Amino acid sequence: MKTRITELFGIEHPIIQGGMHHVGYAEMAAAVSNAGGLGIITGLTQRSPEALAAEIAKCHTLTKKPFGVNLTFLPSLTPPDYPGYIRAIIEGGVKIVETAGNNPQKYMPAMKEAGIKVIHKCTSVRHSLKAEAIGCDAVSVDGFECGGHPGEDDIPNFILLPRAAEELKIPFVASGGMADGRSLVAALSLGAEGMNMGTRFIATKEAPVHENVKQAIVAASELDTRLIMRPLRNTERVLKNAAVERLIEKEKAAGANLKFEDIISEVAGVYPRIMQGGEMDAGAWSCGMVVGLIHDIPTCKELIDRIMKEAHDIIAKRLSRLAA
Ligand SMILES: Cc1cc2nc3c(=O)[nH]c(=O)nc-3n(C[C@H](O)[C@H](O)[C@H](O)COP(=O)(O)O)c2cc1C
Repeated sequence: MKTRITELFGIEHPIIQGGMHHVGYAEMAAAVSNAGGLGIITGLTQRSPEALAAEIAKCHTLTKKPFGVNLTFLPSLTPPDYPGYIRAIIEGGVKIVETAGNNPQKYMPAMKEAGIKVIHKCTSVRHSLKAEAIGCDAVSVDGFECGGHPGEDDIPNFILLPRAAEELKIPFVASGGMADGRSLVAALSLGAEGMNMGTRFIATKEAPVHENVKQAIVAASELDTRLIMRPLRNTERVLKNAAVERLIEKEKAAGANLKFEDIISEVAGVYPRIMQGGEMDAGAWSCGMVVGLIHDIPTCKELIDRIMKEAHDIIAKRLSRLAA
């Protein structure tokens, strides 16, 4: 299937694996790219630019196909060494960057000069337009369903995607709630040129996470995610667990006076314990409502081939019959 996104990134299928903290290692990105999608290494999961350079080098040994790096710009008192990470990306020969969080404007000239294609992930039409205005090549439009940070507008993809299509000139992919061929066809119908998936890719054979995480995803339903940190205007969609229940109680008790320090034990530094250690109640971890649609743990190739076949079947059989 050729779309503006497959053309832009030189990939076979219009399917992207979004950056995921402590999931997006070289093994994950390479498995998705080898299956014809676009795999993405999560930059900040690597503790330093040097560690990211090593992860990029490792990924080059695992795939000859294009892959990208995610750079998440978070508000922080002691920001990571972003210029160093960007240097590691450029020197590592990576030609695709997924930015997320704050506006990446400051770093656009360096990336553009290095011939890097930038896809900015954001949760509103106004931020998508800003991304277009500062020279991003594409946008990943992340609806309210998404795992991770859905923003504060709460607009689901059935509205957000066609609104993005009304306004944007650059191509965009649908992100949040995407799982299968039905999602892909729906995303294309609403004006997207492909789709970005997070949660779905964690439940794959190659995802470098503890088996408990994959089983938790398969066991969960669409009712099992919660929104946390809304009083801090840093809303995150996570899978319900003991730590999240505790955190929500703290939020209720503190109300508008909630401070990050109140919930630090449920959110700070918990990812390695969950993702690699399999301690499923160690803290809050991002997870999308799409868990309700995830029932198995295929390889990335099995997943992507299945999505593409299902999408083709829906278009060629069901929809073409309806149009006849
Ligand atoms: C466990 C997990 C960790 C994530 N970490 C990041 C991250 O570090 N940076 C980022 O830009 N997005 C992150 N995301 C968001 C994904 O890249 C993607 O946008 C989102 O999962 C899409 O929604 P879906 O889960 O419904 O597919 C994360 C998502 C999950 C599930």
